[in-house]
Amino acid sequence: MNYEEIKELERRALIPTYERLPILAVRGEGCYLYDDRGKRYTDFLGGLAVNALGYGQPEIMKALRDESENVLHVSNLIYHRYQGPLAEKLARLAGLDRVFFGNSGTEVIEGALKLARAYARLRHPAEPFERFEILAVENSFHGRTLGALAATWPEKYRKPFEPLTPGIRFVRLHDVDDLRAKFTPRVAGFLVETIQGEGGVVEMREEFLRAAQELCRENDALFICDEIQCGLGRTGRMFAYERFSLKPDVVLVAKPLAAGLPLAAMIARDDAAKAFAPGMHGTTFGGGPLQCRLALKVLEILERPGFLERVREVGAYFRRRLENLKQELPVIREVRGEGLMLAVELTVAGKNIVRQALEAGFLINCTQEKVLRFLPPLIVERHHIDELIAALKPLLAGLREETRQEVHA
Ligand SMILES: Cc1ncc(COP(=O)(O)O)c(C=O)c1O
Repeated sequence: MNYEEIKELERRALIPTYERLPILAVRGEGCYLYDDRGKRYTDFLGGLAVNALGYGQPEIMKALRDESENVLHVSNLIYHRYQGPLAEKLARLAGLDRVFFGNSGTEVIEGALKLARAYARLRHPAEPFERFEILAVENSFHGRTLGALAATWPEKYRKPFEPLTPGIRFVRLHDVDDLRAKFTPRVAGFLVETIQGEGGVVEMREEFLRAAQELCRENDALFICDEIQCGLGRTGRMFAYERFSLKPDVVLVAKPLAAGLPLAAMIARDDAAKAFAPGMHGTTFGGGPLQCRLALKVLEILERPGFLERVREVGAYFRRRLENLKQELPVIREVRGEGLMLAVELTVAGKNIVRQALEAGFLINCTQEKVLRFLPPLIVERHHIDELIAALKPLLAGLREETRQEVHA
């Protein structure tokens, strides 16, 4: 079937939750995605931060082929070779102790919300139903299931489905006083994206995160870092919170973990992890052999000497190029982000730029209406960045013209 036929079929057959870009992807290689007409796109969307190693990475493909000859699934009632080593590796990387494997970001957010409540009950058995609140941060995005959604800030996502999980309150972004005021003994956990992704690549300030960590310690609450988008090398560090030398009690990862197969992990401190006993939590698919084997390979690659350093170096170059563009184009209000999680906030809507960039052969994303977000594979090279900047510049300059005309009209 060609693009038009697929589009028409999906229009009839899918529950209409997505607005797709007008291309039919059929093949990928490195930083490039190809459509059914053979047109090549340089991918600065990276499958929304999933395709960290690009398309068709040879070692990943080999591991996939090898393991696909073995069992694809065994259930969590049976041991297989890869879950234990992967758990040990993730725990070591995060400086934590134990891991629970799920399938998606939102699923491990749910796990963490449950763990925070279970831990509070374990620590305070005399008052089991009083410590259940979770503090989240304004402008955050944690997922679509009812608990994660309750911790997700934009009303457009939450409102249609209320009532959501009770006991989740929002703290104002960067506001330490608000954080202190809301951090009562009822709080079981503080949940934060170290760098907000869907919210427009907004970096948490060190003093805010540090205050949250201290308040968690003082109140026996769990300090939970959602590294689902910003973690696993995206910022040029294994975890974004490492920049501030923080010590979360729980770290959540997902997107790039298994190179495109669904896998997520909740990594926790030993005493918190032990709040879950057998039967208290579980999932059918989480931590399957194929996913875990691929994840071991992904982590091995991220850990190779120089890999993350290169992400920082290329990311800094990308950021400089965007900053230079900002000097020239008033339509860019701000450049944000770290490593290869970068964004430019525009003074006008960016949706058309995404379409125009696509026509020019580049996949980018727009979030929060005015924020162009870049999440390329971590193997992106300077020449890809130069090509993107060269393509974006006239498009953004054109935007400036349009705005001017609007102003004069
Ligand atoms: C920071 C963050 N947390 C949680 C999620 C939810 O992950 P998933 O879509 O895998 O459920 C996302 C997805 O974009 C995310 O960016």
